[in-house]
Amino acid sequence: MTLKIKDLISIKDLDRDELRLILDTAESFKEVGARDIKKVPTLRGKTVVNLFFEPSTRTRTSFELAAKRLSADLVNISADSSMVKGETLLDTARNLEAMQADLIVVRHPCAGAPALLAQKMTSAVINAGDGAHEHPTQALLDLFTIRARKKTLEGLTVVIVGDILHSRVARSAIHALKMVGSSVRVVGPPTMIPREIMNWGVEVFYQYDEALKGADVIMTLRLQLERQGRSLFPTIREYSNLYGLTARRLSMAKDDVLVMHPGPINRGIEIAPDVADGLSSAILSQTTNGVAVRMAVLYLLSGVAKHEPVDPQRTPH
Ligand code: CP
Repeated sequence: MTLKIKDLISIKDLDRDELRLILDTAESFKEVGARDIKKVPTLRGKTVVNLFFEPSTRTRTSFELAAKRLSADLVNISADSSMVKGETLLDTARNLEAMQADLIVVRHPCAGAPALLAQKMTSAVINAGDGAHEHPTQALLDLFTIRARKKTLEGLTVVIVGDILHSRVARSAIHALKMVGSSVRVVGPPTMIPREIMNWGVEVFYQYDEALKGADVIMTLRLQLERQGRSLFPTIREYSNLYGLTARRLSMAKDDVLVMHPGPINRGIEIAPDVADGLSSAILSQTTNGVAVRMAVLYLLSGVAKHEPVDPQRTPH
């Protein structure tokens, strides 16, 4: 089995079987990262371009490591490209395609930018975060991390807390979690809960303690100050008092609750340092798993999986 899609723009592009295929393939690739020589020849001869127009540490680096561990050639392009001279995003991408880029990974502040490229290009396009729209590979690595720790995704209660309105991470995670049978609660200030939330099939809370009762997983979110046109709460201190995850709040959830954050974290605002670094935290595991999940996405969208049966010498099964 392989993916039916050419591009990965949204979690909604995937059906449940495809989502599981990505997670299972990532499971195979995870072992490569634990080897002394972290490389397999699976994508030898393929070219991956990272096209990032917003800051990134985790996503950009993990796509780069994923491509290199699969033996693909990798080029990084950022805001210092010829776009500063007036070239459009599409012309930039077409020039990269003219140099035979097979896969283009795009992060852009505008929602819809990766979808536009995907429509116009034959290269596979992967959305690495577009505005407040989606961040599908983040949702995939989040599910991978939850499944690894909880041994299931079905029937879990996942609480997503904070700036839901501006969060592409929340949008992708909610679609993905509902697809696999988890229940999702969102909690945050009313000014950060989108109006269309009633169509998302989630429970909405405004009191953090209430939302945490019986929680299996807590996904904390960064305040997306760069996307907030105006102040949505009186002070950071007030926000932190109401929606910061502290050790006291953690005790409201199940004993084996898993604490997650996509990063970058603002210590002492959305999460207390002792919780971020505590035994319940899976934050650095999310980062580790991001490489394996992105290896799986690159592999499954490269066409290699379609044209060649799995070869144990070429893929780490
Ligand atoms: N989670 C995430 O997207 O992190 P970066 O912005 O560092 O890529």
